[in-house]
Amino acid sequence: MRVNKYLADSGIASRRACDKLIEEGRVKINGKICKLGAEVELDDVVEVDGVLVSIKKKNEYYIMNKPKGYVTTVKDDKGRKTVMDLLPPKIGRVYPIGRLDYDTEGLLLFTSDGDLANRLTHPRHEIPKTYLVKIDGKISENALAKLRNGVILDGVKTNKANVKVIDSTQNFTKLHVTITEGKNRQVRRMFESVNIEVQFLKRIKIGDLTLHGLDRGEVRKLTKEEIEYLKNL
Ligand code: URA
Repeated sequence: MRVNKYLADSGIASRRACDKLIEEGRVKINGKICKLGAEVELDDVVEVDGVLVSIKKKNEYYIMNKPKGYVTTVKDDKGRKTVMDLLPPKIGRVYPIGRLDYDTEGLLLFTSDGDLANRLTHPRHEIPKTYLVKIDGKISENALAKLRNGVILDGVKTNKANVKVIDSTQNFTKLHVTITEGKNRQVRRMFESVNIEVQFLKRIKIGDLTLHGLDRGEVRKLTKEEIEYLKNL
């Protein structure tokens, strides 16, 4: 960003007063007196009258439509493609919030904001996450009732889930499943517990936040409204 904006954002003076400081030769970038309009990178050292000036780095927030075939990790030991490979090259240090399996698609958030990441992933907050699930054939009322009431995974009963059949033919059934926990491979294991194999799994919502037309593999910044929404979820 421009040095006058950098100085103004640091709170030392108004933009115009900062212009004056620069014109008076009182501002240095990396030890050199700078001119009006000089650019500052976030790791540059900026001084006014020999005193260090810094601005707090702004948190960043992104949403991705994760394709299958990518591991949700910053670095994979086995050398597989990771979700980090899909992020635009020039973004700051962001981390995925929670995890989607290698074979799962859909809504994945990234941020540098540790508070928000904790909030959205801590089981205490019971943030609802909705998945599109596709299975072969039909599903029985009995299986639906078990999934809705909670099944035993690792010796513990899962929370009640919202499970809706949205399309069903002889060959396949599509469901929307909303859960409020994030146990490892939870949706796939819930279906396994009623002897059904999930054929396709995509996260379509976190709370009411959706992918909103984002294509498979695409990433965009969250809007201010979306960030506020998530902070208050
Ligand atoms: N449940 C799963 O089984 N897998 C995911 O990736 C997310 C939820």
